[in-house]
Amino acid sequence: MPASRPPRAVEVTAFAKLNLGLAIGPVRDDGFHELATVFQSVSLADTLIGRPRRSGFTLRVRIEDARVNRVRGGRGPFALAAGGDNLVLRAARLLAAEFPSAGGAAFTLIKRIPIEAGLGGGSADAAATLVAMRAMYGLHLPRARRIALASRLGSDVPFATLGGTALGRGRGERLTPLALQRPFRAVIAMPAWRVATRDAFRAIDRQRMGLTTWRTKSRFADEIGRGRVRLAHALRLGNTFERVLEERQSDFEQLRARLRAAGADQIHLTGSGSAVFAIPGPHASADEVAARFAGNEALYVVRSTRVGTRLRFVP
Ligand code: C5P
Repeated sequence: MPASRPPRAVEVTAFAKLNLGLAIGPVRDDGFHELATVFQSVSLADTLIGRPRRSGFTLRVRIEDARVNRVRGGRGPFALAAGGDNLVLRAARLLAAEFPSAGGAAFTLIKRIPIEAGLGGGSADAAATLVAMRAMYGLHLPRARRIALASRLGSDVPFATLGGTALGRGRGERLTPLALQRPFRAVIAMPAWRVATRDAFRAIDRQRMGLTTWRTKSRFADEIGRGRVRLAHALRLGNTFERVLEERQSDFEQLRARLRAAGADQIHLTGSGSAVFAIPGPHASADEVAARFAGNEALYVVRSTRVGTRLRFVP
């Protein structure tokens, strides 16, 4: 970096994701599962502010409530540890190890995306950190290297660095960018119950989901990737995790019924949940679905976005 250009503070918007469809295949030798998914960035977002400092990294987290409804009992404002495990610090340290010439940063994370929800919030924060470090220190980080680094931070981080609409294969890191035929709006409902991703994968293994189904879905996913993506087509892939909810199955079906009663049409889990997204039917807008909805779940109204992160230099 030239001495004449001191690093500047940056603000990165980190968008959440939905899995419009998610088919889980067999477990691989490395313990990860082969999958086929259509990722979509949406407008619910965290904000990461990075201020350069000579060396080392710090993180402050501020929770901001982005719900459109104010209900009791829903999983609303949540706690997030700002410790060393936080993906912001892990991403920053990973990059610092790769680029010893880069300086440190004081990060502030404004957290709005519910955590451990299937919305890719942690992955978005990690991707935003890569963007922030790259911008502050002028790091040369071409796409292939960025994706390789991102996949060391988590299966969904590569997509978060890419954003928009994409087909994800492998464990999610093999990405094909797609073009969405039409932007859309959705309502995200956040139940109070949680799903532990690792346990959900184990439940899939226990149920020995047929390989024939996987092959059919895998082929179907490849078809989605030809030409522009129609939302209805991508949704038809379905989400394997919906079949292993076990004791939560009835809660999920009940939430689905209430969203349908409010005017939603297609309702699915994103990732392993427990966040559920609902696409409005022909007679309601996303705002109307949210206004008519009866229940204690926290609601968010989102639109599809074409990017995963957005960078702004702070004056
Ligand atoms: O990569 P990530 O940290 O998001 O994965 C969390 C856990 O989910 C992994 O440790 C693994 O148990 C499981 N997983 C999997 N197959 C994938 C992605 C994740 O089994 N494709």
